Amino acid sequence: MDNSQSETATMTPYDLIGGRAVIQRVVDRFYDLMDTEARFATLRSLHAPDLAPMRASLAGFLCGWAGGPRDWFEANPGKCMMSAHSGLAITRETAAQWLAAMDCAFEDCGLGDHAVATLMIERFAMMSRGMAGAD
Ligand code: HEM
Repeated sequence: MDNSQSETATMTPYDLIGGRAVIQRVVDRFYDLMDTEARFATLRSLHAPDLAPMRASLAGFLCGWAGGPRDWFEANPGKCMMSAHSGLAITRETAAQWLAAMDCAFEDCGLGDHAVATLMIERFAMMSRGMAGAD
């Protein structure tokens, strides 16, 4: 293994995707799409009028979740993402909208073919399926 290979082997998904700035850019694009595109209207209606807290919270969660700084987890000790969604009456339709908006956000940020983005989308698909009730 040369130096660059061993460096890559110790990098986290957070590092490989470009760190907090890139994650924040994807999250901002995700909420912009949700806020403006009619195809995401049902998903948008589940959220509070002000999306600013979610822009910070989802980006902070994803940074720690991807192996980066854990400030979100320190501020939310023991918070389980699946339980946090259990009272939201998420349907298969809204779960599919969430996933489509996130997929589009990665694409619009130039990460459509990025290996880490592909893995993240696969994981989000599993989580979203688990969050959706059997409607
Ligand atoms: C299955 C589709 C999903 C739907 C419909 C959905 C919807 C929501 C809604 C309505 C909220 C509350 C928003 C508000 O207060 O304005 C929320 C919060 C949140 N969601 Fe989701 N979500 C989904 C999937 C996910 C996934 C897969 C993740 C993680 C990868 C995630 C991460 C978060 C985070 C971090 C919060 C904020 C929690 C907090 O700060 O207390 N969501 N979600």
